[in-house]
Amino acid sequence: MDSAHAHRRLDTAAHRRLDVDNPLRFDVVTLFPDFFTSPLAASLTGRALKRQIASVHLTNPRDFTTDKHHKVDDIPYGGGVGMVMKPEPIFAAIESLPQLPRREVVLLTPQGQTMDQPLFKELATQYDQLVLICGHYEGVDERVLNVVTREVSLGDFVLTGGEIPALALINGVIRLRPGTVGKADSLKYESFETDLLDYPQYTRPTQFRDWAVPEVLRSGDHGAIAQWRHQQQIERTQSRRPDLFERWQARAKTGPSQHRPSPHSAPQSLPHPSSHSPLDP
Ligand SMILES: C[S@@+](CC[C@H](N)C(=O)[O-])C[C@H]1O[C@@H](n2cnc3c(N)ncnc32)[C@H](O)[C@@H]1O
Repeated sequence: MDSAHAHRRLDTAAHRRLDVDNPLRFDVVTLFPDFFTSPLAASLTGRALKRQIASVHLTNPRDFTTDKHHKVDDIPYGGGVGMVMKPEPIFAAIESLPQLPRREVVLLTPQGQTMDQPLFKELATQYDQLVLICGHYEGVDERVLNVVTREVSLGDFVLTGGEIPALALINGVIRLRPGTVGKADSLKYESFETDLLDYPQYTRPTQFRDWAVPEVLRSGDHGAIAQWRHQQQIERTQSRRPDLFERWQARAKTGPSQHRPSPHSAPQSLPHPSSHSPLDP
């Protein structure tokens, strides 16, 4: 098969050009390209792709097989259950891709480094191209690691394929690219940005069933709101994620907590009820 036909660009719709200097290119090497179509067309990710903040290209190793049955897997040497993904179609698929200057070749595998926000930040800012290899069956032939520069896991569990981990990575990384999320500020104080989890959020109505929005959030006192939110961050991190809480405490002890919003700074999100908001009638 002509390799030109083996690549599918996901965002084929007419694009509005944005003045984005450096769109990030994802190349996903997957036996199941259809898996990506709907999740990547939706919501903020879909919009970011349309606006060329990033692009996703899907390449199927099966299109690079040379045998009559388009075989991508085979039995393991040494015996054992299951099948192993053959190296040749994966190498051929990767070698058919354009090569941008700062490129990382990522194998999705439960044996890799666990995805987290610092990793997403690094991938969003340090690279022009992320090649994502999705394994299946018992995984890929070990020799594929010769082309891999990083192994990444979604978590300590085993899925049937690398597509869901790849989607999680694409989503988390695109979200950090400038222009994807409306206000850069809304990324700033989220869970994991400050070693503290995010504070509780409320929207209208003020009273829902037996539950009212906390009085302080309706007070218009920005200092009190910021203080309440910060206190909530501390309490919920301490109870839900003692590991993060310890790290936050250690950082707070050793240096200026420049990541932490000042308790007296103005809140960055929900406007005072008297100011205009998109929720106003
Ligand atoms: C059934 S798994 C193979 C697991 C492999 N035998 C092992 O125990 O390490 C098939 C493929 O799914 C993907 N996969 C499964 N769980 C994953 C996870 N937690 N993170 C990233 N990729 C995963 C990988 O691409 C893997 O090659």
